[in-house]
Amino acid sequence: MNFTYHLPTKIFFGSTCIADNIVEFSFWGMRPLIVTGRSSAKTSGALADVETVLKQLGMEWSLFDRIEENPSFATVEDGGAAARAHDADMIIGIGGGSALDAAKAIAVLAVNEIPARKLFDGNFPAQPLPVIAIPLTAGTGSEVTQYSILTDTERQTKRSFASRALFPKAAFLDARYTQSLSRTITINTAIDALSHAVEGYLSRRSTAMSDHLAIDAIRHFSGMFNALGRDSLTLAEREELLYVSLLGGMVIAQTGTTMIHSLGYSLTYFRHIPHGRANGLLLAEALRFMQPAAPGKIASVLAALEIPDIDTLKKTLSSLLGPEQPWTREELHTFPEIALQAANIANTPRIPDQNDLKTILAASC
Ligand SMILES: [Fe+2]
Repeated sequence: MNFTYHLPTKIFFGSTCIADNIVEFSFWGMRPLIVTGRSSAKTSGALADVETVLKQLGMEWSLFDRIEENPSFATVEDGGAAARAHDADMIIGIGGGSALDAAKAIAVLAVNEIPARKLFDGNFPAQPLPVIAIPLTAGTGSEVTQYSILTDTERQTKRSFASRALFPKAAFLDARYTQSLSRTITINTAIDALSHAVEGYLSRRSTAMSDHLAIDAIRHFSGMFNALGRDSLTLAEREELLYVSLLGGMVIAQTGTTMIHSLGYSLTYFRHIPHGRANGLLLAEALRFMQPAAPGKIASVLAALEIPDIDTLKKTLSSLLGPEQPWTREELHTFPEIALQAANIANTPRIPDQNDLKTILAASC
């Protein structure tokens, strides 16, 4: 047994965890820039809770609430400029994966005046500002990872950069903030979390530690299939999903993702299919492809999900996700071609070629 495990993020989980841990905000700075999207931080109540804490601590904060879904280079560059204009010494990211990933990029760009595309070279001399992460969806796990995923229009895909300096210093997970999510967003993000756990479990970089977390995440998810099929979820069920999402993030921080995320990026970039839905559409056929290389682990995934076989998993996911328009001939050619350039494809236990990806994609709608 030979592994490393690194998770420098302090995790606070539970209702009112922000108000109950005010002092944690004071460790990292006095002039925060809050990075978020246009509305979810407000409608969820998370922004009001954070502002109450900052007021109590006498902090001067500024709000950058312009993060769009799948954030662009221009947006995070603007965020970096906003941080410098405010003389920010910390970043508080509030939102789904897009806002949290943008918060990390902005933490780097605030102190390194470089174009956002240079982030992918991993070469930023000044240490990023400390980040506090408050997820508003149960899916991304970005609150406990060293990754930031941005949209690269030049390469026509989503791309991630990683640095151990990007791990948030603290993460506050309060499932009440996910209660205002629509059923569709709840399902899509939950399936992203499941995909993180499954992909991390199958990754070539998986370890005994990450496997333990992944299987626990998958087991917790198995009880949620019925809940996700209903119109509304209880707070306890939303806590379960937030826990799965947290564990999924802890897993991929160690293992990376696999071909499912590689191919899913094209579905999101070109078809505007939400990230979690893209993974969910591909999951069953990708498992079928990987099965010869990892039969024992795939059996363990199905057992943890309490699902008898891959066909049943496909039907279960389809019933949650609903149908997708068939892929065009051009999409079946281009999406696999672009996916093969993604770094995470190398984590897949059975490495696909373009034809394999085309077959998986063709069978996934
Ligand atoms: Fe993901």
